[in-house]
Amino acid sequence: MNVGVFIPIGNNGWLISENAPQYRPTFALNKEIVVRAEAHGFDFALSMIKLRGFGGKTEFWDHNLESFTLMAGLAAVTSKIKLYATAATLTMPPAIVARMASTIDSISGGRFGVNLVTGWQRPEYSQMGLWPGDQFFGTRYQYLAEYVQVLRDLWATGQSDFKGTHFQMDDCRVSPQPQAPMKVICAGQSDAGMDFSAKYADYNFCFGKGVNTPTAFAPAAQKLIEATAKTGRHVTTYVLVMVIADETDEAARAKWEHYKAGADQEAIAWLGQQSAADTRSGTDTNVRQMADPTSAVNINMGTLVGAYETVARLLDEMAEVPGTEGVLLTFDDFVAGVEAFGTRIQPLMASRAHVQATVPSRVVAPEPVAA
Ligand SMILES: Cc1cc2nc3c(=O)[nH]c(=O)nc-3n(C[C@H](O)[C@H](O)[C@H](O)COP(=O)(O)O)c2cc1C
Repeated sequence: MNVGVFIPIGNNGWLISENAPQYRPTFALNKEIVVRAEAHGFDFALSMIKLRGFGGKTEFWDHNLESFTLMAGLAAVTSKIKLYATAATLTMPPAIVARMASTIDSISGGRFGVNLVTGWQRPEYSQMGLWPGDQFFGTRYQYLAEYVQVLRDLWATGQSDFKGTHFQMDDCRVSPQPQAPMKVICAGQSDAGMDFSAKYADYNFCFGKGVNTPTAFAPAAQKLIEATAKTGRHVTTYVLVMVIADETDEAARAKWEHYKAGADQEAIAWLGQQSAADTRSGTDTNVRQMADPTSAVNINMGTLVGAYETVARLLDEMAEVPGTEGVLLTFDDFVAGVEAFGTRIQPLMASRAHVQATVPSRVVAPEPVAA
């Protein structure tokens, strides 16, 4: 199983809680996390794009770096780990994104790929006059389908004459082309999103579900298998999950309860309003699930809470779900979490035995970088 880290490009990572570690996103912090992840054999790092936060006492995600420029910096200070930036496709024309990706491909020596998002939170775009109107909730994957065809044309041939409803290319050129095949991620959960991934993406990311219910995401993986059966393309599932680990199950559980007790209700209420705004994507979009009160404190992303051996076992169970190729991890404390994964969890995972052969279980950690 492949393992990636969803780096904290926004403040406080993915815990909307006054009791969670409070920090601003910086290049120094993200560099420390990714350099350590690379040393421990992580396969990839992904950063999201978020253009408007949730507010509240914790100013949740009010502070966010930009994804491509952050990954360009990280590309220059790493050598093995694959790097993915997220394109907010309403804000950047595909020919510019194709060229930015080619540039980071050059910086990284072929280790770069792109996560394409349609956008689901109107204020991110309306604040800059770029929201096309609420009908976009219903048509966003048609828009993304045109977008990705332009990207694929430009990366594969350096030229595009694509003519669609949203994009018209006129002998558009991008050179240099990427040295390695440019991989595309999508995180579609709706029928339209999954169909998009089956047709155009290389990987589909989904939300893990529940607390210590590691295989609860299986229906999403199955849905992708069914969608790819129609297109005949090889597209695999990666699962987003938070790890809260400690020496014992009790100690880890105490941390989780503490985070929940400090939930920033004002920020969570804003998330609820935003995720309810999309009434056109059918009932299966996971956007509305993010605000489910069960675990809104970490956006309902699916959480593994326990001793290092418990978390290792639960991750191995995730690896067994058909169609699943990897996990994307977040942590309550990213620096300590990546270290604990590398030194305490990964060595116990059958699904990471292949990494153990190449990465010593006790890596000499790089010196901390001042944040
Ligand atoms: C791992 C992962 C990363 C995501 N990154 C972003 C992001 O950076 N920006 C964003 O607006 N949405 C992001 N999303 C939301 C998805 O793009 C998508 O809107 C959501 O999963 C709902 O699926 P649907 O569009 O098919 O309804 C992400 C989702 C997941 C699971």
